[in-house]
Amino acid sequence: MRPLLRLKGVEAGYGPARVLNGVSFDVGVGEVVALMGRNGMGKTTLVRSILGLAPWVRGRVLFETRELRGQPTYRIARAGIGLVPEGRQTFPNLTVRENLTATASPGRSGKDPWTVERVLAMFPQLAARMRAMANTLSGGEQQMLAIGRALMTNPALLILDEATEGLSPALRQEIWACLATLQARGQSILLIDKHVAPIRRIADRIVILEKGRVAWRGTAEGLTDDVLDRTLGV
Ligand SMILES: Nc1ncnc2c1ncn2[C@@H]1O[C@H](COP(=O)(O)OP(=O)(O)O)[C@@H](O)[C@H]1O
Ligand SMILES: [Mg+2]
Repeated sequence: MRPLLRLKGVEAGYGPARVLNGVSFDVGVGEVVALMGRNGMGKTTLVRSILGLAPWVRGRVLFETRELRGQPTYRIARAGIGLVPEGRQTFPNLTVRENLTATASPGRSGKDPWTVERVLAMFPQLAARMRAMANTLSGGEQQMLAIGRALMTNPALLILDEATEGLSPALRQEIWACLATLQARGQSILLIDKHVAPIRRIADRIVILEKGRVAWRGTAEGLTDDVLDRTLGV
């Protein structure tokens, strides 16, 4: 598997507080890697470390062969990383259409780029809301918008931080179906989520963080009840 993102001994934190204690794993081209862990274990801090949003980072964050560490976030995004942030964070006072187009970019892949029309084909509910301000959308609609906005940057790597959090089971199902479609198209994905059953179905590999370290890594078959109990308490 050709690596797309390589994390090597990543340490990060907030001021004197160290949150990541040397995290290493790869996401290969076309791979779906799930990152799991209880609240406060450093998953979002790892996402911030990749995107240049953490106050300090040590170690290596390689995207293809480029070192991302120390680069500004806009350049990291332009290099081909699309983020669906924790809490969605759509632009509240922009319309749905503006949210989709504000950060859109053709990306580098060249083939089959995402367009507004293709996002609406994936999330038909958004079609009727194109002129609505994002802050008037339901939680589920905002989540779809956040995913659509990230796809419109045509990212080589899509990162989703708790994209199914706070959604009804039906809406969660819709997000998982979307991710399966993206996976079938060969989209590389780093997925942070707490729902074990869909992760087992979709993830090529699973990494579990505990106190800023990789506590376990493997495939769905290896993710036994014992591992879940030990690392996630579920
Ligand atoms: N902006 C911040 N300033 C200080 N500490 C933070 C900040 N964000 C998160 N932390 C702390 O870093 C640790 C990891 O948080 P986080 O990366 O958000 O975990 P997770 O995403 O796994 O729930 C927690 O102890 C949290 O309190
Ligand atoms: Mg988090």
